[in-house]
Amino acid sequence: MAPDSNPALGDSSGLNAVAQAIVTPLTRSAIFLVVTINSDPGSRAAIRSFCADFSALVRAVDFRYIEGGLTCVMGIGSDAWQRLFGDPRPANLHPFREIRAGTRHAVSTPGDLLFHIRAKRMDLCFELATLIMARIGSVVTPVDEVHGFRYFDDRDLLGFVDGTENPRAQAATDAAIIGAEDPAFAQGSYVIVQKYLHNLDAWNALSTEMQERIIGRTKLSDVELDDAVKPTSAHSALNTIEENGVEVKILRDNMPFGRAGSAEFGTYFIGYSRAPRRIELMLDNMFIGRPPGNYDRILDFSRAVTGTLFFVPSASFLDNVAPENEVDAAPPPAAPSPAAPSTASTPVKPVPSLAYQKDGSLGIGSLKGEIQHE
Ligand code: HEM
Repeated sequence: MAPDSNPALGDSSGLNAVAQAIVTPLTRSAIFLVVTINSDPGSRAAIRSFCADFSALVRAVDFRYIEGGLTCVMGIGSDAWQRLFGDPRPANLHPFREIRAGTRHAVSTPGDLLFHIRAKRMDLCFELATLIMARIGSVVTPVDEVHGFRYFDDRDLLGFVDGTENPRAQAATDAAIIGAEDPAFAQGSYVIVQKYLHNLDAWNALSTEMQERIIGRTKLSDVELDDAVKPTSAHSALNTIEENGVEVKILRDNMPFGRAGSAEFGTYFIGYSRAPRRIELMLDNMFIGRPPGNYDRILDFSRAVTGTLFFVPSASFLDNVAPENEVDAAPPPAAPSPAAPSTASTPVKPVPSLAYQKDGSLGIGSLKGEIQHE
C-alpha cells in the first residue's frame, strides 16, 4: 500500500490513484445529470455496486466511436458520501452554501450524484445517460438534466466567448486535482454546478460597450479590457482571486442550453477545483460583491436556479468500491476441521469475501471461504 494511502480505503486512495476525466479537451456537447439516491437501504447497495462498474459502462459507449472523445465524471454530494461510504471523508466536502445578498440568491438545491458527460457528439452523451439511467433509474430520482451545446466560437448565450482564461495542461491539473494536501483523497476534485437562466431581452437591450464592461472583455475579439477602463465589478475582475498573494484558478466547462419555444436561455456553470473555497470565494465576490455591494452585474440579467457541490473521487476509488454485502460481511468462519462433527442439519449461508483482497482485487462475486451445506 502506498505510504500516503488511507488504510480504510485500500489501495484505491493516495497519490498513486488515477483521476477521473476532469482535465479533458473541450467538446461540442455535454449532459449534466443530477439525481438523488432513494432512501431505502437497497438503493444504497445498488449505487455502491454501480460505482465499481461505472468506468466499464463509459468504456462500452466510448469504444463504439472512439474519435468522439466520450468522458463522464461522477461526483458525489456531501450527504450521499456519508450514506455510501461514511468515514473517512474528503477534507472539504460539505453541502453547497447558499448566498443571499440584496435581490441576488445563490440557491442550494438537492443532488446526491452528478454525471458530467462530455463528447464531440450528443448521441454519445445521450447513449451513456440512457445506459446510466437504465442501470440506476429504479434507485434514484432525477433532479435536473441539462443538455448543453457549444455555441459558435465557444460563446455563451450572452454572446461572449466563455472559457478563455481557463488554465490549460499542467496548470489545469494543478487547479483542479487534489494532491498531497489530502493524501487519502488525492487525484480527486471538488465540483460546483449552477444552472443560470438569462433574461436575454434585457441583456440585449444594453449597448455592446455596457455588456463589455459587465464581462470585462471585448465582445467580438474577446480581449481583456484595460485595467484603466475595466470596472472592479466586471465578471472577470471579481473572479480573479489570490491566495497568499498568488493568483489561483479553477477549471470551468460552462455550456449554453435552452429551449427557444419557451424562451429559456441559460448557462450551465460547472467549476472544478482542488479546494471548494476558491469557487465559494468567487461566488461571494459575484453575489455579495468585492467590497460588499460591488457585485457582478451579470446577476442583474441571470439568476441561479440550482446550486450543488460534489466531491469527485479518483477513478481508482470508484473502481474499488466493494458491493455492500462484502463490506458488511463478517470475516469468513474457519473451515471445519475434518474431525469436527458435521452440522449438516443447519443450512449455512454463503459468506462473501471481504471488501479488499490482499492482492488489491475486489473478489466481487467471489464466495471465497464459503461453507455450504445442502
Ligand atoms: C451566468 C453565468 C456565467 C457566465 C455567462 C459566465 C461567463 C464568463 C465569461 C464570458 C468569461 C470571460 C472569458 C473567460 O475567461 O472564460 C468568464 C470568466 C470567468 N468566469 Fe464566468 N460566467 C458565469 C458564471 C461564473 C461563475 C458562477 C463563476 C465562479 C463561481 C465564474 C468564474 C469565472 C472565472 C474564474 C473566469 C476567468 C476570470 C479571469 O481569469 O479572467 N463564472 N465567465
